Amino acid sequence: MRDYQIDMHLNTERKQKPAFDQLQFGRNFTDHMFIMDYSSEEGWYDPRIVPYQPVTLDPAAMIFHYGQTVFEGLKAYLSKEQQILLFRPSKNMARLNRSNERLCIPKIDEAFALHALKQLLIVEKDWIPTSEGTSLYIRPFIISTEPYIGVAPSNSYRFMIILSPVGAYYKEGINPVKISVEQEYVRAVQGGTGNAKTAGNYAGSLKAQEMANVDGYSQVLWLDGKEKKYIEEVGSMNVFFKIKGEVITPALNGSILDGVTRDSIIQLLNYWNLPLVEKKISMEEIDQAHKDGHLEEAFGTGTAAVISPIGELFWKGEKLSINNGETGPLSRKLYETITGIQTGTLEDPFGWRI
Ligand code: COI
Repeated sequence: MRDYQIDMHLNTERKQKPAFDQLQFGRNFTDHMFIMDYSSEEGWYDPRIVPYQPVTLDPAAMIFHYGQTVFEGLKAYLSKEQQILLFRPSKNMARLNRSNERLCIPKIDEAFALHALKQLLIVEKDWIPTSEGTSLYIRPFIISTEPYIGVAPSNSYRFMIILSPVGAYYKEGINPVKISVEQEYVRAVQGGTGNAKTAGNYAGSLKAQEMANVDGYSQVLWLDGKEKKYIEEVGSMNVFFKIKGEVITPALNGSILDGVTRDSIIQLLNYWNLPLVEKKISMEEIDQAHKDGHLEEAFGTGTAAVISPIGELFWKGEKLSINNGETGPLSRKLYETITGIQTGTLEDPFGWRI
């Protein structure tokens, strides 16, 4: 880790905190944030923790024009002993650098970024909510800041970490959501940016989400960008199916995000000796499994929602009800195990919690 000194400029005034038992996702932000800048001459420099405030940028800053930016999402919890807990944060820092690589953004020092995050969390410890289903969501992100409207990698960047006390991502919580299988739009293609956590992937997904919402569906199930046949992700999450006792998740193929929750579920299922396969799986196969009465459960997985059961899939005019639209036992067990490990109420045989 590089030996940077983090400057601290703390606010004497503190914001009024929202009611921690009624938190929505991503609407409230804490008193401070972490910032560090980059120039091609100096590399990453001037790490600081400062009051949460708007950012002033030149209107020509490249982020506004070509979207050269990456982000991460992870969560902090407070144990009963008042200890700050993080869940596999090194995986997020490593993925941030993989996204940086794809977006031509200079790499960060992962160990230093984690150290900076821990310093920020110490300052903001009393913002970590402890009600059931809540946490402090952490959003590290990097934007390109050079004022230049030619299409090229920027020569200057800003790395920031902001924090948001959050409740459930979907209003349904651990209750099942209804999902429409997307037939027209695609999220990503192989060779594109689907496996990087970058804004454009999310901007490009909004139209399909908006259309699904109009029809009463929470999100869409994304099919592959080439044949619109194979399942990739659900909304902004990875997806799992349980068919005749076997759990299946689409194999990482370059257009699917390598989710930390996805990886944790794979490790948990292996640990429990439950059959798990990562493979290409088509929507036809899911439909056939449903017709045969073998589709037992389906769920999305991500940091924000952890586990989001799918109660219904709408595909080619048909409604495929899954587990009678109720939360299945595996979805519930995975949710309880992962959140139990995250919050410190369950043992952590994997050493995921730090
Ligand atoms: C996640 O599931 O953690 C996500 O990536 C959603 C986030 C963009 C809010």
